[in-house]
Formats: sequence, structure tokens, C-alpha cells
Amino acid sequence: MPQLRPRRSTLAVPGSSQKMIDKARGLAPDALFLDLEDACAPAAKDQGRKLIVDALNEGGFGDIVRVVRINDWTTPWTHRDVIDVVGGAGAHVDCLMLPKVQSTAQVQALDMLVTQVEKSEGLEVGRIGFEIQIENAQGLLAIESIAAASPRTETLVFGPADFMASIQMKSLVVGEQPEGYDVGDAYHHILMTILLTARSHDLQAIDGPYLAIKDLDGLRRVAQRSAALGFDGKWALHPTQIDELNDIFSPRQDDYDHAEDILDAYAWHTSSEGGARGAAMLGDEMIDEASRKMALVVSAKGRAAGMSRTRTWQPPS
Ligand code: GLV
Ligand code: MG
Repeated sequence: MPQLRPRRSTLAVPGSSQKMIDKARGLAPDALFLDLEDACAPAAKDQGRKLIVDALNEGGFGDIVRVVRINDWTTPWTHRDVIDVVGGAGAHVDCLMLPKVQSTAQVQALDMLVTQVEKSEGLEVGRIGFEIQIENAQGLLAIESIAAASPRTETLVFGPADFMASIQMKSLVVGEQPEGYDVGDAYHHILMTILLTARSHDLQAIDGPYLAIKDLDGLRRVAQRSAALGFDGKWALHPTQIDELNDIFSPRQDDYDHAEDILDAYAWHTSSEGGARGAAMLGDEMIDEASRKMALVVSAKGRAAGMSRTRTWQPPS
């Protein structure tokens, strides 16, 4: 599993609001995106590009992942977003987020355009990554080839609001179950498809926004579901959502300690000093190579979240 940057929380920041951009500087999400798409009105796109370029060049966002969400290819704006943002502040952009992706060609077109702008600006070619939003029926049906379309891609991001509109789900409450569907989780297939595709291409799987920003219980309920499946993080639309998400998408301390214990114990038991055994006991639990793989996941997420152990494992004396 490649080491990707942590993205437990991704803060959405409207690109045309200087006030919100300034406010974001004092916050500590793992990532943020400056939005040129749906949170930036059509008449404010030019102004948004200027504000974003200035903000990125000015800096002050700490070491978080800096993303710009550009407009999708069905609009008149995508090429200008890329030329202005990468041309004006490319060295300070970690990723571009492409919304409403429907086909491989859309990702490839973005890759070609970004490559050309990087070359013309003397930037390192290929450094800027992509975040790909899956938020309509076409995107989900083509997800396998979309995920493989560019080596720049780092994440597949579920866009629940657009997705609900795309499939005509009978609800306006984003992230919550549609009334009348009482036999399970209406989002399970979508989330699982995104997760499986992300994992099979070594990408991160990110859950999208929860719009009821005052309802932290609701946020927790929905975020815990995607975290439990294996997602890496979720969007924050408001600063109060950030800490909740950082917590929910980090391993519990006890699970992290346990994972590190498994790694140490298994390394020792499989060594010649420990008897070169492929299966061994850790307390009451039998561990083997599959346990090591599961522990590696939890350990990697814990380390990326800056966690440290509260105990150490000792070989039997
Ligand atoms: C996000 O872009 C969404 O549509 O939910
Ligand atoms: Mg959307």
C-alpha cells in the first residue's frame, strides 16, 4: 500500500470568498479544497480564480494538502481554471479535483492539459495529483477505467448531493437514508463500489459532504458508516466538523496499540530467534500473515494521523 497523504478531513472552502479563505488558514484539516465549482457562482469564476491564485502564492495553510476544485468538462470553464490556477500558482497546488467525472477521456484530457501547463511554466511535470469525484450514474458505471486513467490520481471522492440528483433518489437530505427505503443502507452499493475500486488501484476513498452542518450527531452517524467500511476520510463543510472527522477516521488508540503489538509479535515469532513460526499466539489470539496485513492498515492510518503507542510488546522470556 503506497503512503498517500492523510485525508481524514477535507475542508471545502468557496474560492470566491476572501473571508472564508482567510478563515481556513487558522484551521487544521488534513486537506482543503478551494472551490471553483458549485460553491463559486458562474459570475464569480474569474474573481475566484484570482483569489485562489493569490491565496496559494501567499500561503499560510501549514502543511495540509492544498487542492483546487475546478469545473467539470461539460462547462465552458475547465481549461481556463487549469491555465490560470496551475499557471499562476502551480508550485503551491498539491492536487486538482475534477468533479462529475463520467469517462476516462475526461481524466486523460485533464492530464494532458495540466502536463502542458506544467511544461510551459517550467514546473515539475506530474507532481500535481488528481482527486476524482464520482457523482453521477455514468461515473459509477465507468469507475474502473476512470480510476486507471491517469497516474496522477490519488483519490476517488463520492459526491452524494450530485449523485442523489443523478439517480433521482427520493430525498433532499444529503447523506441520510431516503424515506421509504427500509431494508438497508441506500448508499451501500455506491460506497462499496468506490471503495473496492480505490483499493484495487491503490487510491484513497473519500466520502463527500454532510450538509446539515449544525447536526454533529448526524455527521458522526454518517461518517462512522463510511469509516467502518474502510474509507480514508470525509469532507468538512464547517470548521466544527473537522475534529469530529479527524477522530472518526483515525484508529481508536487501543486498536492502534493492538496493531503495533501484532506487527512486533509477528515479526518476532516468524524470525529464527522466535522459532520461525507462521502462526503464533498473541495473548488469546492467533495471529498469522493475514493478521499482519490487517495490522499494517491500522498502523499506517495511526502513524499518518500522528498517533504514538501507549505500550510496547515484549517477546516471551
Ligand atoms: C459534492 O460535490 C456533492 O455533490 O455531494
Ligand atoms: Mg458535487
